[in-house]
This record gives sequence, structure tokens and C-alpha cells, in this order.
Amino acid sequence: MPEREVPSRPIWMKPDEAVVQIIDQRKLPGELAVVDLESVDEVVSAIYELMVRGAPLIGVTGAYGLYIAARNAPEDFPSDDYLAREALRIKAARPTAVNLAWAVDRTLAVILEEKTAGGRVDAARSEAAAIAEEEAENSRNIGRHGLALLREISSKKGGGPVNILTHCNAGRLACIELGTATAPIYAAHQKGIDIHVWVDETRPLHQGSRLTAWELGMENVPHTVIVDNTGGHLMQHGMVDIVIVGSDRSTLTGDVANKIGTYLKALAARDNDVPFYVALPSSTFDRQIRDGVADIPIELRDPDEVRYMPGVEKTDGNLLVPKDSPAANYAFDVTPARLVTGFITERGVCPAEEAAIRRILAEKS
Ligand code: MRU
Repeated sequence: MPEREVPSRPIWMKPDEAVVQIIDQRKLPGELAVVDLESVDEVVSAIYELMVRGAPLIGVTGAYGLYIAARNAPEDFPSDDYLAREALRIKAARPTAVNLAWAVDRTLAVILEEKTAGGRVDAARSEAAAIAEEEAENSRNIGRHGLALLREISSKKGGGPVNILTHCNAGRLACIELGTATAPIYAAHQKGIDIHVWVDETRPLHQGSRLTAWELGMENVPHTVIVDNTGGHLMQHGMVDIVIVGSDRSTLTGDVANKIGTYLKALAARDNDVPFYVALPSSTFDRQIRDGVADIPIELRDPDEVRYMPGVEKTDGNLLVPKDSPAANYAFDVTPARLVTGFITERGVCPAEEAAIRRILAEKS
């Protein structure tokens, strides 16, 4: 466990200075490193390298990236063309999570309304901060709505432990506060409901074992790390009451892109009558795409993330596969709506059906 005080959010503005700071999540849980972001290159690389990750957080980081772009503009004026180019560069850093493009486009539209350099810089900064606050509020509301589901399972079990399985990290490190999949978990724990979380380790970058387990441990939430292929076995033996995962992009028809391996958990959940829920803010819904499996772009990452032990030098001694074996590193998959029991959004819980999703997104939170 790192010794310095853990910041309450994974991204923030350094007080009294125009510097954006982040936790470098690649180093957790061994080291709590804080990094300054001062150029668009640094923002793009922080997003691509997964120093910051998780759909809501990369959205907020992208928005702050435009603030940094505006501040660093050549000849002291952030022109429309320059900002549009920097926005494209930031959005290209990670293609699957729709929050990144959504937050960057939203911030760009606000900046372009301003006609002075100072106005553009200020508008970018305050829009990024507003998105961060909204995402924090979304997580609080997701927690409130998801709590009801966990409470119901607990009372059906006569107060016995509610076993929740989660994949990757849809926790506060992936968001701004509380997380999405973890928000109901924290809410239930706070209310004294007996819960236990199965944490998928999440190969190849171990967001589950490194990050989710670290977060849950800090809050004293009972949890157990399992290797990625354990979920099906646990479900067959009645050891999972509910699966809750996050999402990087979901369609209005109910298809869900999330970390690679999520689809297999959903298949196992269906085969064993285990409810499979997706917790997400409305910023994660893509209003354009209808067929998630066909049309959500899936990020293909460096095969070396699979071939070498993570977090250490790429030497032959650290290879996990024969030196000449190629590897494929699909970062996400899509779970079709038919396997999703429901969505937990900041506006309430709904089935993964288009009419219900449209209705809930139209409602005020
Ligand atoms: O590659 P990552 O670590 O950015 O993937 C993150 C996930 O898949 C999360 O489950 C998702 O972004 C939801 S975050 C609340």
C-alpha cells in the first residue's frame, strides 16, 4: 500500500496553479505516483498508456486536455482550426470508450463560443470541471439506485452475504468518485449490508487485481481476487448472486462494450440464471450506433502487453510466451443486449430494451 495520502479523486487541478494532476494508475498498487499534465502530448500519452483509464475518467481527462491545448496555443490565440486538430488528436488516443469523444466534443463546442484567448482558456477549464462534477454526481446516483438491487438480494437471502462478481475496474479510479459498478457496492457496505466481491484479475493489465482490489481494500469491503476464468465455476456452484460491470460504450438498443472477457461472464451468468447488470452514466450511451457487435470500434492494443509480464522491463526473462509466438490484444468485447438483465444509470434502473433505455435517458435524474 502506498505511504502518501491517497488523493480523493484520480484527476484534479493543483490548487492556485494551472496544472492538471493525475494518479499514474500503471504504478498502483505498489506506488502512488502523481503526474503533472502540461501538454497535449502528455495528455494523449497518459490516456493511451492507461495512466488514466476507465470511460468517465478519460472523458474528463480529454476535456482538461483541451484546456491545456487552449492555454498552450501558438501565438497566444487558440484558433478554431488549432483546437479542432488538438481535439482530434486527443479523441484518437482510445477509440472504444465513447465518453472521450463525448467530453472533448462538448468542451470544444463551449470553447468555440468564446472569441478571446482568455475567454477560451477559462471556458475550457470550467467545462472540464463541470463534466468532472457531473460524473461524480452520476456515480452517487448510480450507487443509490443500485443499492436497492443489492438490498433486495440480501433480504431474499435472509441477510446472508450478497456475492457480487465484477470485471476490470469500474471503480472510483475509473470515474471521479465512487465508480459505476462499485458505487452500489460502496453504498451497500456503508448501509451495513453483508456483501462480498469476487474481483476478476483482468488480464493483461490487471485492472481488477491491481486497482479494484486496492480500492475495495481501502474501504474494508470484503473481496477475493480470482483469475479471469473462475466466474463460470463460481456461478455453477451458487457462489455469485449478481454480476455488476461497467461499460465503455453502450447502444440505445442495449449492447454493452466493456473490458475484454465481459461477454464470457454474461454467457456464464445467463447459463446459471445469475442477474447480469451494467452500471453506467448516461455519458456512456452512444446515440448513433445501433448494433454494438458490428459497429462499436474495438481497441487493439500492443501485443507485448500480453507477451510480457506487466510492469517490468521487456526482457527475455520476463516473457510469458515463447519469444516468437505472436499475440492478439483485443481490449474490449461487446455483450449483446439479450444477455444483459438491466442497466443501473444515474436516473434509475431499466431493462436492456430500447424503449426502456430511451425513456430513462429522457428523464431528469
Ligand atoms: O482499458 P480500461 O482500463 O480503460 O478499461 C476500463 C473498463 O473496461 C471499465 O470497465 C469501463 O471503462 C467502465 S469504467 C466506469
